[in-house]
Amino acid sequence: MNLKIGVIKGDGIGPEVVTEAMKVLDKVGEVYGHTYSYEQLLMGGASIDVHGVPITDEMIETAKSCEAILMGSIGGDAKTSPWYKLEPSKRPEAGLLKIRKALNLFANLRPAVLYDELKGACPLKEELTEGGFDMMIMRELTGGLYFGERKTEEIDGLMTACDSLTYNEEEIRRIAIRGFDIAMKRNKKVTSVDKANVLDSSRLWRKVVEEVSKDYPEVTLEHMLVDNCAMQLVKNPKQFDVILTENMFGDILSDEASMVTGSIGMLASASLNETKFGLYEPSGGSAPDIAGKGIANPIATILSAAMMLRFSFDLDREASVIEAAVEKVLEEGYRTIDIMSEGKTLVGTSEMGDLIAGHII
Ligand code: IPM
Ligand code: MG
Repeated sequence: MNLKIGVIKGDGIGPEVVTEAMKVLDKVGEVYGHTYSYEQLLMGGASIDVHGVPITDEMIETAKSCEAILMGSIGGDAKTSPWYKLEPSKRPEAGLLKIRKALNLFANLRPAVLYDELKGACPLKEELTEGGFDMMIMRELTGGLYFGERKTEEIDGLMTACDSLTYNEEEIRRIAIRGFDIAMKRNKKVTSVDKANVLDSSRLWRKVVEEVSKDYPEVTLEHMLVDNCAMQLVKNPKQFDVILTENMFGDILSDEASMVTGSIGMLASASLNETKFGLYEPSGGSAPDIAGKGIANPIATILSAAMMLRFSFDLDREASVIEAAVEKVLEEGYRTIDIMSEGKTLVGTSEMGDLIAGHII
């Protein structure tokens, strides 16, 4: 099969980690008889440097012509990078928000798994994580605060800023349906996270999620307030299967969940629309402080590539082979610096990619 994949290497550690994911994909191609047409796409700071904007309309059109997109990360150091002297709508992050909206990528899947081998990197007490955990954060990605109207103005002599949080029932319904569908393939539990004790948008969220749940009698639904959820994630992470939540809560909780797994360098993600198209990226950022040093963990990006094979190309076997290769390399004791612990073997970005590719057989 020939796979047409758009590649956004992006900024910071992006190019390094994407290179390793492509190395692994190439090996999968060799072994399983697939070929790739890669389309290099500029976004974020890399696009600002060339075009003056974080994403161009042409780039979005080219992205639409691909079957899936593999992405590294975007953004730089907000204190030192010239990109952050631009107005907010021209900064690197605006490119990512724009492509999510333009391609209608409303469903963001962020699996947080504690690998047995990485227990040592998990900051929680062992008794809390005994037996490991495996949760899927389903984050709504094209609505809410990140896409609402915003403005900063002077009112009565005071600088005043406003961001608006809007959801309509349809936006909630479609992500809820995705959440329940995924739960049906997992442990059949959905924890819907909101702030219904305060926010109207959360009260509507809860009501629509309740309605959707009626079509899934086998799935247990529970509601949890977001502040409690932040606490439960470190108190008892094993209780979660699918966490279903709105955009900003999902942004925050997924970073928290990643640290509970040991490192954000392990957390893959898929952003999907109604079709097979998806954008796949590690959940972590561009980490400008370690960019170019060859020490970044490429595993989240490699696992994102596996998600791409599974969701956009229905290549389940190939996806599982990549996931198994990652586990094998961890079992053999190889670690990048972010997940390093005593007695293990420290490797760099490209060596980690080589090792994982070496297990694709
Ligand atoms: C993420 C990132 C983005 C987001 C930023 C870079 C706009 O934090 O994917 O979690 O908030 O969605
Ligand atoms: Mg984030």
